[in-house]
Amino acid sequence: MKFAQRMSRLGTETAYAVAGDAAAYAEKGHTVYPFHLGDINRPTPPHITSACKKYLDEGKTGYCPAAGIKPLREAMAEEINRTHGTDYTWENVSIQSGGKPTIGKFLMNVMEEGDEVLYPTPGYPIYESQINFFGGIPKPYIYREEKDEFVMDMDYFQSLISSQTTALIYNNYQNPMGVCSSSEEMQKIADLAIKNDWMVLSDEAYFDLVYDETPRSIVSLPGMKERTVLLSTFSKKYAMTGWRLGAAIGPKDIIEKINKINTNDEACTTHFVQWAGIDALKGDEKYCQQLRKLLQKRRDACLEILRDCPGIIVHKPKSTFYLFVNVTQAMEKMNIDSYETFRLHMLEKTGVSFCTREHFGSPLPSENQKYIRLAYSGIDVPQIHEGLGKFKAYIQSCFSE
Ligand SMILES: Cc1ncc(COP(=O)(O)O)c(C=O)c1O
Repeated sequence: MKFAQRMSRLGTETAYAVAGDAAAYAEKGHTVYPFHLGDINRPTPPHITSACKKYLDEGKTGYCPAAGIKPLREAMAEEINRTHGTDYTWENVSIQSGGKPTIGKFLMNVMEEGDEVLYPTPGYPIYESQINFFGGIPKPYIYREEKDEFVMDMDYFQSLISSQTTALIYNNYQNPMGVCSSSEEMQKIADLAIKNDWMVLSDEAYFDLVYDETPRSIVSLPGMKERTVLLSTFSKKYAMTGWRLGAAIGPKDIIEKINKINTNDEACTTHFVQWAGIDALKGDEKYCQQLRKLLQKRRDACLEILRDCPGIIVHKPKSTFYLFVNVTQAMEKMNIDSYETFRLHMLEKTGVSFCTREHFGSPLPSENQKYIRLAYSGIDVPQIHEGLGKFKAYIQSCFSE
C-alpha cells in the first residue's frame, strides 16, 4: 500500500513499547517494578465515577456541542480564573478529549509549513511529532544539569530565535525532568514571546502536581493571555487518564477555530464524561492535596534510596511525578553504550522498568550525558523500596567488582 508522504513524518510515544516489554517479562513469572508509567495507580475518585454512572442513566449519551457543554466550559473558566488570576469566560474554553489534542490543534492554527517552533528536549515526544507532521521546523531547546536541579539553558534558547520562529511550546512543570521556571525565567520567556510576536502553547498537564510552592502560569503575566493557548487536562490531576477529558483555553478567535477542528474531527468529547468533569472540578481541593501528599512520599522514598547510589546523580524535582536520573557513570561501568541495552539489562537484572532519554524526543548530537526517567506515579512505597533497593544493589555490585 502507498501511504501519503506526511505519514513518514508522524512520530509516536515509544514509551508504550516499554510497557509491552514489562508486561512480557511479567508474563514469564518475574516481578516487575513499574517505573515507566505516567499514570496514577489509584482509581478515579468515587464521587466522579458515581456521577458519571448517573449521567449515563439520565441519558446524557447523544451528541453535544463540538466546543463542549456550556456548564463544563463555564466551570473550567472559573477554575482557571481561580488558580491563574485570569478573567476567562466559557467562550475561551474548548473541551478536548484529553490534553494531547490541544498540541496538534494549536500548531494547525498558528504554524505554516516551514515555520520554526521552539519546544523542549528532552520533552513530551508529541511536540516533535506534531511539528514535523504539520510541516514545521522543530527547534528543540535544552536544559543544563546544575548541582541540585535542571534549568532551561536560556542562552541556547535565545540562540535558536530567528525571523522564522512563530511559536513556542512551553511545558512548565516539565515531563520528564520536573523542571520549574523561576519567576525571573518565566518573565524573560514572556518578554521574548511578546518581543518576537510568538504564539505560545502553555502545556500545564502537571500544574496541580507542584510540591512546596504555589504553581505559576505564564498566562498570568501581562501581555501573555492574548497570545497563549493553555493545555489543561483532567488526566493526572484526578487520576482520569482513560476518560480522555481536557481543554484548550485561550483567546476567543483561536478557540473558535479549534472548535471548528473539533467539528471536523471527533465531533464532540464524550457527552457523559463532560458532565462528570463538572463533578471533578467541584470536588477538587481535598483530593488533589491528598494526591500530592501521596506522590511526595513516593518521591522522597525514591530519593532516599538513590541519593547514595554509586554511578548515578539524582535531583529532587519540585513538580510532576518523575525523576530524571543521570546514569552516565553506571552505564560506563557496565560497559553499556546503548539506552535500549541498558533498559533491558536493568529489567532483567532487577525487574525495574523505566523509560530512557530516547523516549522524550530525538537526542541532540551534543548530548554527552545519559539519563533515564523513573515515574513514581504507578508504584507504591513498599514496591519502591523493594524495586529501587534491587536497582541500587545491582549497580553497587558493578562498582565493587
Ligand atoms: C507534558 C504532557 N503534556 C500532555 C500530556 C497529555 O495528557 P493527556 O493524557 O491528558 O492527553 C502528557 C501526558 O503524559 C504530558 O506528559
